[in-house]
Amino acid sequence: MAKEFNPKYPSMDDLRSKAMHRIPKFAFEYLDGGCNEDVSLVRNTSEIREVQLQPRYLRNQGVSSTKTTVMGMEFDAPFGIAPVGLQGLMWPNSPEILAKSAFKNNIPFILSTVTTMSIERASELTEGNAWFQLYNPAEDSLRDDIINRAAAAECPVLVLLCDVPTFGYRPRDIRNGLALPPKMSITNILQIMGKPTWAYNTLKYGQPTFETLKPYTPEGLNLKQLGQFMDKTFSGRLNEERIKPIRDKWKGKLVLKGVASEQDTKDAIRLGFDGIIVSNHGGRQLDAAQSTINSLSEIRAKYSNQIEIMMDSGLRSGPDIARAMASGAKFTFMGRSFLYGCGALGDQGGDHTISMLKTQFKQVMDQLCCERVEDLPKHLIKI
Ligand SMILES: Cc1cc2nc3c(=O)[nH]c(=O)nc-3n(C[C@H](O)[C@H](O)[C@H](O)COP(=O)(O)O)c2cc1C
Repeated sequence: MAKEFNPKYPSMDDLRSKAMHRIPKFAFEYLDGGCNEDVSLVRNTSEIREVQLQPRYLRNQGVSSTKTTVMGMEFDAPFGIAPVGLQGLMWPNSPEILAKSAFKNNIPFILSTVTTMSIERASELTEGNAWFQLYNPAEDSLRDDIINRAAAAECPVLVLLCDVPTFGYRPRDIRNGLALPPKMSITNILQIMGKPTWAYNTLKYGQPTFETLKPYTPEGLNLKQLGQFMDKTFSGRLNEERIKPIRDKWKGKLVLKGVASEQDTKDAIRLGFDGIIVSNHGGRQLDAAQSTINSLSEIRAKYSNQIEIMMDSGLRSGPDIARAMASGAKFTFMGRSFLYGCGALGDQGGDHTISMLKTQFKQVMDQLCCERVEDLPKHLIKI
């Protein structure tokens, strides 16, 4: 076991339970919830877990490796940290903790446009290895400014988000009056008082703010105002006209995140994307969505030789990652899992979560007698 691994928390459920006890309710519910009735949230994981794998015990050639390549880069494991907004609200300093851990463990870290660390800081912590997720800005000048900053910070991959044409309908966040910085209502103050480590760390690191957007954002927005600001500033309503100038301007790798259909994959290929992330935003946008493992299977069957197909949403363990890779993903990402890790273990949360997932994933590869990540599809049982 790696020294970063804390044996008191060997599963994602352990991390999630511990995080729930250390994060104020309004912030934990923002992290943990889906949308509407949470149907997509639950379906993502349950349908991944229907995937079954077959071992080949008499073909054991030796030790397996978890290394793999995507977007022309080699990583030590086939999973990375998905972009998550407002990270510092859920656990103080968590974007720094996660960017550092990702870099140290040689896995990709994707910085969200709306998180609490700037592009420049992410680049500094990862020596120019952080990927950057872009919400499509409505104004061309803002778009060009952010893209120039990502290029100056040497981000190797720009990830354009397509699955937020509108704000998700999230009853918990509406009820909690979610805001950044948190609204000091009696309920929130009581929730914060019950979480002393979170409160102490928030004082230590300061109120989280939208660092990348600081030059463009008014201060102290509540959820409604944030929605209005985001609507005005960013238009998730993407189309060819909006995408073309981004492709022309961005010289690095370009990935489309939030793809859920064969048609959008076909368009992504035609428009010059280097990769897609099949994703339904962790079930936070469309409660009537297909699970991403099912979208992946359909898309991969037609397009895996034309574009790199990555996947997220619903993965919580090494076996889940193996199931997704066996189903044809070239790479996987997780969002909530790493924030559960930070919530549970603070500064150690990134390293522990990566170590735990890698240990679990490697055990599956060894058990299947699968030496290379690329060979996982050979172990898929087609039902
Ligand atoms: C709290 C939260 C905030 C998120 N914010 C963003 C974001 O700002 N940009 C983005 O591209 N995706 C965002 N996502 C989606 C994640 O990148 C990812 O698609 C999703 O978390 C994957 O599902 P999982 O949490 O089940 O692993 C967010 C997800 C969560 C849970």
